[in-house]
Amino acid sequence: MALADEARRVAAEFEYSAEDVNKGVREFLREMDEGLVKDGTSMSQIPTYVTAVPNGTEKGLYMAVDLGGTNFRVCSVQLHGNTTFSIKTSKVPIPRELMTAETAKELFAFLAKQIESFLKQHHEDHYFGHLERVETGGGTVREEDIFDLGFTFSFPVHQIGINRGTLIRWTKGFNIADAIGKDVCKLLQDEIDELKLPVRVAALVNDTVGTLMARSYTSPGKTGTLLGAIFGTGTNGAYVEKLDRITKLKKAAEKGEIGEYDQSTGEMIVNTEWGSFDNPLSILPNTPYDESLDKESVNPGIQMFEKRVSGMFLGEIVRRALLALLEKDGGKVPLFRDENSNMNDMHTTTNIHDNSNLFKQWGLDTSFLSTAAGDASQGLKITRQALNRELGISAASIEDAEAVKLISAAVGKRAARLAAVAIAAIVIRSGRLEIATVGDGTSEEDVIDVGVDGSLVEFYPGFEDLMREALREIDGIKEQEKRVRIGIAKDGSGVGASLIALVAAKQIRRMSV
Ligand code: GLC
Repeated sequence: MALADEARRVAAEFEYSAEDVNKGVREFLREMDEGLVKDGTSMSQIPTYVTAVPNGTEKGLYMAVDLGGTNFRVCSVQLHGNTTFSIKTSKVPIPRELMTAETAKELFAFLAKQIESFLKQHHEDHYFGHLERVETGGGTVREEDIFDLGFTFSFPVHQIGINRGTLIRWTKGFNIADAIGKDVCKLLQDEIDELKLPVRVAALVNDTVGTLMARSYTSPGKTGTLLGAIFGTGTNGAYVEKLDRITKLKKAAEKGEIGEYDQSTGEMIVNTEWGSFDNPLSILPNTPYDESLDKESVNPGIQMFEKRVSGMFLGEIVRRALLALLEKDGGKVPLFRDENSNMNDMHTTTNIHDNSNLFKQWGLDTSFLSTAAGDASQGLKITRQALNRELGISAASIEDAEAVKLISAAVGKRAARLAAVAIAAIVIRSGRLEIATVGDGTSEEDVIDVGVDGSLVEFYPGFEDLMREALREIDGIKEQEKRVRIGIAKDGSGVGASLIALVAAKQIRRMSV
């Protein structure tokens, strides 16, 4: 049994044809529309109450915090009003036990503590001055002392105002039942108040919305950015939608379920929550590895698109595919075997320790895929070293590395093609491609700007090229693919969230006058 043939067979299981990509786009468009009409749909299409994208002239000092992946980040951002900004940041890993704590309070108290340390470290005068005034002045807080804070909370929330939203469900390994249905801004504000910090949670921000805002501030184009997307631990996108198409918002307002919202621009940013596209599964590609990954995850049947596209899962898909190959036919495939071992006795001579990460759930990090995809070294030395480092396979052969690289590349390519489905549907729905070009399609007026962030787009070699290849196969885009400009938007949760805090603070002040 030749290893190369076997690896090719497994890689082929991840093929996602042009026809399927187009089918995906059609279904994505349908689910986008459905989500704008009512609640409880596959894709949540959450109205964010952010009704304009910035143009680079915004100014002021704001705070932002970010909860959504493995770290909690606190920062303060000075917007200079000329498309530039300066930022102070601190970052701590979120203790694993807090991700699955008994009560929401445990997690949010930890977050408030981090904000306190940040203020003490970076805004010492401000913090101690405020504290003194509060203590000597009988608890009165001066408006000018308060930092408006944008809270990037990258989980699906039912947003009912710019700084109000209840948690629908956790994703990405978090699981605190007590928090479901609660207003996450209030949870944070209560803990901030307990510590008497001069901070007001002014805006609830999804990381994708922050990405869209950051991109618009730093590279304001003629037509503004259309879409902000994350391809990192999770995946999701937020885009600019016409207000009159978000019919569920109008209905909620009529029923008095939500407060007033700004309608002056005729637009609102919608957080798609596309990670849950095609739930329950109907058209997404599905291999035995996807299936077992899902079954053994903390949220089976949920976030099916995310489980095929994002960094939290791709390494795990590859691990499962490798394991299946290793165990195939009672261990007859010559993968990770000693070269001089007896073919009939293969399964006893594997050179993998029982405690190798290959046998552990989440044992293979997605960064491995990036390493393998970018490996052009002689004899795939880099991949073999990574196999040793990550999986403890000390004697991987070149054939082993080739097989692993092939399978990793197939999983990465499928993810990029799926990502293209989401981008394509949003570009198509915007109608911007129907406007005739004034130049060759790449001049400022013709461009449709997309801001992206996340470890996959940043570190997986060729991710954008693979997406673009798929875009060219999609009806309604094809040769217009070059009009789609995809640019990295760093710091959505810093500068992006600050920009939303700015917009929100203006709204809060207006409403309290
Ligand atoms: C998950 C979250 C979503 C977030 C995305 C990227 O899909 O549900 O809110 O935007 O991850 O971090």
